[in-house]
Order: sequence, then C-alpha cells, then structure tokens
Amino acid sequence: MNLIQREKANIYNTYNRLPVAVSHAKGSKIYDVEGNEYLDMLSGIAVNALGHSHPRIIEVIQEQIQRYCHISNFFYQEPQIQLAEKLNKLTNLSKTYFCNSGAEATESAIKLSRFWGNPLGKNRIITFSGGFHGRTMGTLSAMDKPLYKERMGPFLPNFDIVPINKPEVLRSYVTEETAAIMLEHIQGEGGVVEASEELIQTMIKLREKYNLLLIADEVQCGIGRSGDMFAYQQYNYQPDIVITAKAIGGGLPLGAITVSETLGNEWKPGTHGTTFGGNAVACCAGIVVLDELENGVLENVQTVGTYLFEQLQLVQKEFPKKIVSIRGRGLMLGVEFSFPSRPFVEKLLEKRIISNSTSETILRIVPPLTLSKEEAQHFLDVLRNTLQSF
Ligand SMILES: Cc1ncc(COP(=O)(O)O)c(C=O)c1O
Repeated sequence: MNLIQREKANIYNTYNRLPVAVSHAKGSKIYDVEGNEYLDMLSGIAVNALGHSHPRIIEVIQEQIQRYCHISNFFYQEPQIQLAEKLNKLTNLSKTYFCNSGAEATESAIKLSRFWGNPLGKNRIITFSGGFHGRTMGTLSAMDKPLYKERMGPFLPNFDIVPINKPEVLRSYVTEETAAIMLEHIQGEGGVVEASEELIQTMIKLREKYNLLLIADEVQCGIGRSGDMFAYQQYNYQPDIVITAKAIGGGLPLGAITVSETLGNEWKPGTHGTTFGGNAVACCAGIVVLDELENGVLENVQTVGTYLFEQLQLVQKEFPKKIVSIRGRGLMLGVEFSFPSRPFVEKLLEKRIISNSTSETILRIVPPLTLSKEEAQHFLDVLRNTLQSF
C-alpha cells in the first residue's frame, strides 16, 4: 500500500485532503515524495508565518530539546516568560495564559469572560455569524455554521450570534447581562470578511455604556498576517483579551490569551490550566516568529500583500464574470468566485500551487508571510492562466 492508501485504511476520515504525499518543505515550497515542488499559498492554514524549516526556528528548537522538551507548568520556564513578555508588550496588555491551540485559547477567553462577569450578573457572550472559533463544545456554541454543529448539541446557553457589520443589530442584542463581544477582525474560515470600522466604533461605545469585554480572536488574522502585528491594531483601539494560536507556535502547537490588568487578577492557581500549555519548545519557536516579524517580515507582508491585492484587482477586471470580489488585508486575501472554489483549488494543485477553498466560493490566500514578490507573481501567472481555461 502507498502512503495515501495506508492513510485511508488507518486515519479517521475527517479531512478533505489534497492528494499530495509530503516529503519535506522549505520556505514557501512543499515537496512531495516524488520530488515535485509546490508553491505553498496556504502555509499550514495560516500557521507557518516564516515559511517552512526556517533556520532560526530549527536552531532554537534543537537547542531547547537538548535542554528539555516538557517539564509541566509546575515550574518556572524562561521561554514561556520571554514569550509572555513579548505578547504583553505587543498587545499593550498585562498577562498571558498559555495553552495548546486556537480552540483552547478561545475556550479560555470564554471561561475568563464568564468568570469575570458572573459576580456582576453578566454571562451572555455575543459573537458574529460566519465566525470560526474552534471545534470544542464551548467554541461551537459561539458559532453558527450548521455543518460544524449538526447532531453535536446541546450547546452552551447564553450565546448571541449576530450578523457581522450590522451595528444596529449588535446594539439591539447588548444588555446589562452581556459579558463580552468576541470578534475576528478578519473572518478566515468565514470567507475573508473584514469587520467594518463602524462595527468596531459601535463595540467601543457599547463597552463604555455596558461595562463589557471586547475579545479579539487573532488566531488566524493575528501575528502579522494583516500587515500589522494584530488585525485589531488597524482599527486603533484596545481589546480586553487577545486570543492567539496558529502562527504563534512557529509550526508547533501553541495558543494563548493575553489579557488586561483587571482580568489578569481574576484567576488564581487551580482555576484553569492544561498539562502542555506553553510548551517550552513551542515558546522558543514563538519568540523567533515575533522577533522576525519585528525585524523585516511585517514590512514584507505590507509590500507583497499590497502588490498581490492590486494585481488581484487587475485579474478581477480581466475576468469580471468569474471574479465577484477581492478582499482581505496583508497576506490574508480572498478571491470570491461566481462558482464553487474547491474544483478551482484542485486545478491549481495540478499546476503545483497549494491553496484553499472556504465558504463555498472563496479562494483563501494565506501564504507564508515571507512570500517573495517573485513567488506572488508566479501565483498570479498560474491564477490567470487557470482562469482562462476554467
Ligand atoms: C479565528 C480562529 N479561531 C480559532 C480557531 C481554532 O484554532 P485551532 O484549530 O487551533 O483549534 C481557528 C482555526 O482555524 C480560527 O481560524
């Protein structure tokens, strides 16, 4: 049996895999076992911010595993502390709690909001239609896509899921019982949908009026992807909780919530926790990710992201019947087609481009943040070429 047959025989079939058996990957390129080279415009679903096999990440991981891999949260650990210092500073917040994934981090944000809100009579949480926050029961309760929820209920009570970018509807849902509003400033799975400036301004006013928390789910749109370190920074305000995961672990599993000073004093030892959270090896990789972003990679996201966006707009002009819209920021872009995007992704794969289809008609573009202009150009050439014959 080959790799694909063995996978089918042994692994629970919960993913629509692309038919590529991976051998190794470097920078923005993935190589299959037959030696074919692919341009990676997906980066492990918005994870590999520095591309694959980044030499500094390899170096710090190797160094750390020679010291130790896992020691548990019963001990003081330099890599965790360093990464928390960086996250606290970058978010202008006070304390970081580490876990292992985006869902777990979001779950932690939900728990902390309820913990803070319960004594004040606040336990309702507002989220937005089309949002994605994870696959746990808590995070699913914050989402409305039927595919993820069918036959999984009952879910947690007291979640209000409102349409995005409809400030008047949001206003009508907020009461004294609302503990928090949680938002992806650019929805990823939801099809690269940006929050409007008006929505954020409304959220800020509602926080002032009702004393509620604003939670930024930066799992996908954060850590440099939007062109700023965090997407919420493009709206120029301060959330109370910032959720990170995906890219923060430099390719290793890591999640975090970074919280305000008030919230940082809520939980006491034992209130919340996890065995692996803030794994030292993952934290070492995370420190490199943030360091590289601050030293040139963010600028690359801005330059290459702007180029890609402008070029995609030109492609849209060339194919007005096939492309409905171009959206997103930085290197988190979406091409909305007038037809289902999955077959198009398969066509691109035949031409050795790895991309992703989301929300039925959207081609999601989330490459490594180190993508070069030449690589972006290659993608555009193949895109044009494929659109002509599709
Ligand atoms: C915005 C957002 N939040 C949370 C999650 C859940 O993260 P994970 O898959 O690491 O549990 C995702 C995953 O795609 C996401 O995009």
